[in-house]
Amino acid sequence: MLPTLLILTLATTVSAKFNPLHHSGPASPYFDAPSQFGIDVETPENCVVDQAAYILRHGSRFPEPGSLSGWQTLYTKIQNASFTAWGPLSFIGSWVVPVDDVDHQSPSSGAYLSGTGAREAFDLGVDLRKRYGFTRGGDNFTAWSAVQQRCVDTTTFFVRGYLSHGNYVNDTKVNRGTIITLPDSVNTTFADSLTPSASCPAYDDANNGSAISNAYRSLYQERVADRLNLYLDGLVLDPTDIGVMQDLCGFSNEINGDKRWCNLFTEEEWLDYEYAHDLNYYYGSGPGNALSATVGYPWVKAISDIFTAGPGNAISNGSLVTPPLIMGFTHDNNIPPILSALGLWNTSTTGVYPLSKTHRRADRTFRSSYVVAFRGYVALERLTCSAVDVSRPVYHAANVIMAASGEQSTYVRVRVNNAPVPIPACQGGPGATCPLGDFARYLGWI
Ligand SMILES: *[C@@H]1O[C@H](CO)[C@@H](O)[C@H](O)[C@H]1NC(C)=O
Ligand SMILES: *[C@@H]1O[C@H](CO)[C@@H](O)[C@H](O)[C@H]1NC(C)=O
Ligand SMILES: *[C@@H]1O[C@H](CO)[C@@H](O)[C@H](O)[C@H]1NC(C)=O
Ligand SMILES: *[C@@H]1O[C@H](CO)[C@@H](O)[C@H](O)[C@H]1NC(C)=O
Ligand SMILES: *[C@@H]1O[C@H](CO)[C@@H](O)[C@H](O)[C@H]1NC(C)=O
Ligand SMILES: *[C@@H]1O[C@H](CO)[C@@H](O)[C@H](O)[C@H]1NC(C)=O
Ligand SMILES: *[C@@H]1O[C@H](CO)[C@@H](O)[C@H](O)[C@H]1NC(C)=O
Repeated sequence: MLPTLLILTLATTVSAKFNPLHHSGPASPYFDAPSQFGIDVETPENCVVDQAAYILRHGSRFPEPGSLSGWQTLYTKIQNASFTAWGPLSFIGSWVVPVDDVDHQSPSSGAYLSGTGAREAFDLGVDLRKRYGFTRGGDNFTAWSAVQQRCVDTTTFFVRGYLSHGNYVNDTKVNRGTIITLPDSVNTTFADSLTPSASCPAYDDANNGSAISNAYRSLYQERVADRLNLYLDGLVLDPTDIGVMQDLCGFSNEINGDKRWCNLFTEEEWLDYEYAHDLNYYYGSGPGNALSATVGYPWVKAISDIFTAGPGNAISNGSLVTPPLIMGFTHDNNIPPILSALGLWNTSTTGVYPLSKTHRRADRTFRSSYVVAFRGYVALERLTCSAVDVSRPVYHAANVIMAASGEQSTYVRVRVNNAPVPIPACQGGPGATCPLGDFARYLGWI
């Protein structure tokens, strides 16, 4: 029997190029999504970003109490049995639940950020300061956060990364960060909430998404359990154990660096796992929910108004001077509505949408791993571009920092987990950007 098992092991090894962490949906630690549309990630030539707005999911975290209890059940089941395991499963008798201080990691009030999540947030702060150069040393900076602790903590680490230059860490009187927290459930109007999923009574972000996704899971989990049970004698994995084991790849990686669960499944099994998540978000909070675009619209419209005013201008009768960088930190279910409001990832000429409930297509662009990974985001950038004639020489007058020359126009670009994404109805600008005026008109008609 053993030689057969060894051959099986070889046959199921995931190819070196395939990374399960890039196909783990909401359990994926942050990674830059690949460009699905062939657009260069660099800002187009002769353009500068002069204003940007991000709406993000919090960083990598510990499991929610519900997930944790699933992990504990699996652990108890394994430990309670006397069994023999071969090959890829030989580690499971030594596996322990990677939550070692429940009260400070996964309390019933909600899971906290992990060290990986804190680093993801800090890194983004450093990256955005360098990317845009908006905030001079000594300036203040304000960020907005949903009220749950892991969102506030993500914001805090972001602000530290964004403002940590010079002696800020030692001298708290310079580079001050302010965090404004917004309650989850209120009678909100427009972008006064970062969790509009909780403030529209008619909107249900489950919307049968989890039922559809569970129905898809039932199509493959039994097959996976049957395959893995060949490596066990004295312990039988159930189809429902498979989802827990696949979740543990992403979570163990970011919590304690344990990669053993990642090596257990084939590429096809990872793609099915990812697709089950895709269905959950597509039909739950994304374009497959008829109210999703409505829920995402206020944030997009508010940013459109702010971009139309441009950075540093007073709006709302002088009550707000538009900041150059607007950061909003929230939860996974509040990100897909932004895609819906912008009309992204839901059009094709080949009938990919609405996503099939039973058949995974490789040519879909809607991928949960590419947007609701931990610290995933949708960013809007306002670009000012000059029509520069490169054949003409440029003249620099002494002691005058050169300003952009040539006729200037403004555009909007969308980036999702770093990758530029065109707005299907509006992509005539440089680098498939949308002219700002058209963007504002487009939103006006939704
Ligand atoms: C532990 O194993 C025993 C004997 O196989 C079984 O009766 C019992 O239900 C198991 N308990 C758990 C929590 O799995
Ligand atoms: C930063 O905020 C503080 C407190 O509101 C204010 O006194 C200070 O002038 C601000 N600094 C800048 C550079 O705007
Ligand atoms: C930090 O600030 C304190 C108080 O102003 C000062 O004594 C100390 O030298 C500073 N440390 C550094 C590393 O700048
Ligand atoms: C929202 O507004 C309605 C109508 O004014 C009111 O009955 C309700 O209590 C409010 N809800 C919250 C959470 O403030
Ligand atoms: C929800 O999805 C399940 C699985 O696809 C399906 O059986 C059920 O009819 C759906 N219910 C609604 C209300 O759409
Ligand atoms: C997504 O595409 C489907 C199929 O064309 C359509 O029924 C649905 O309304 C679209 N959703 C959004 C938010 O545009
Ligand atoms: C601005 O002020 C005008 C005149 O007082 C008022 O009618 C309008 O509602 C105000 N707009 C906003 C956005 O506050």
